[in-house]
Amino acid sequence: MSFESELFTPYELADTKLANRLVMSPMGRRRAADDGTPTELMAEYYRQRAGAGLLITESTHPCPEARSQPNSPYLCTPAQVAGWERVTSAVHEAGGRIFVQLMHAGLAAHPDVNGGHQPMGPSAVRPQETTKLGDQVVEHPETRAMSESDIRRAVDAHVSSAVSAVAAGFDGVELHAGNGFLLHQFLAAGTNHRTDAYGGSPAANCRLAIEVAAAVANAIGPERVGIKISPGFSITRIAEGELTETYGHLLNSPEITALAYCHTSGFSDSAVLDLVASNWGGTWLHNAGVDPVDDSARVRQRLAEPLERGADLVSAGRTFIANPDLVTRLAEDRTLAIPDPATFYAGGSNGYTDY
Ligand SMILES: Cc1cc2nc3c(=O)[nH]c(=O)nc-3n(C[C@H](O)[C@H](O)[C@H](O)COP(=O)(O)O)c2cc1C
Repeated sequence: MSFESELFTPYELADTKLANRLVMSPMGRRRAADDGTPTELMAEYYRQRAGAGLLITESTHPCPEARSQPNSPYLCTPAQVAGWERVTSAVHEAGGRIFVQLMHAGLAAHPDVNGGHQPMGPSAVRPQETTKLGDQVVEHPETRAMSESDIRRAVDAHVSSAVSAVAAGFDGVELHAGNGFLLHQFLAAGTNHRTDAYGGSPAANCRLAIEVAAAVANAIGPERVGIKISPGFSITRIAEGELTETYGHLLNSPEITALAYCHTSGFSDSAVLDLVASNWGGTWLHNAGVDPVDDSARVRQRLAEPLERGADLVSAGRTFIANPDLVTRLAEDRTLAIPDPATFYAGGSNGYTDY
């Protein structure tokens, strides 16, 4: 069977049966209510895309201080659980499977959108001078280093949000340890200047991600937990040292190898990709970063490349925005629609549920 045909074959992701190997990559679309409660419109958006083998939701915050952008969703309060329950029911009724991505922004959080909490992370580093909040460019505030009790609360927040995720009907959770957010900030030497148990060596830098993974897996079962990493890539430009040592340690830690999958994306460092390919024995989900073009055959070919490299599943982001029925379109060689970046983060149903 060719790798392109393999895209359309079923896959058993631990306890979750996937109809095909195309995963919708997590994408923040900022359509939640101001207080972070998921809306009816979001249920419709995810329902439309239920033909993916697995949907991974946009970044969703486990506690108030974790938020970096307006109208991104939370998964904490009973109202938020009820809102997400509408989403998971809609997806399940349409035959799909859905994991929620849990993301704590750490140093990249902003008090204007998180209830006034000062951003905190491994060390008091300002990841950037300014931040774009919605349409506005604002100054990024001073940050502070997390105490041991801050760290405990962050671990506990991931656990209680994961337990809420199961209550809301999610098939599992993806822990966001990439893109320059909290867990990645601990992994990266550029933002982690600690010399205690949580920083100062590749093993110590991995400690928080490992503790969160272990605690969440203990609460809801490792078969329901995935982790996303983006070695060498960060939207806040944090510098990473010792990539191979750090990620080698992470990917070989028993708490991480017990998880349902590892999702990799967004890095050009081929040595790190080789490291993942040779170190990770579990389910490997890779995002190749395929530019949306209308040529179905070309997109299918690019999406199949990670399978050839050893991945089990591949994720697509922007192409799914404009093509809710992407799997069918690719299988039937139909022309693909091109997404409009102007509506990625705004526009209500426009550019969201009207493709
Ligand atoms: C609008 C938008 C929002 C995104 N939000 C997230 C996010 O919340 N979490 C995440 O891990 N990645 C996020 N990403 C990255 C995507 O998951 C994906 O890795 C990236 O778009 C490259 O894949 P693609 O070329 O198929 O679009 C986002 C990307 C886009 C375009």
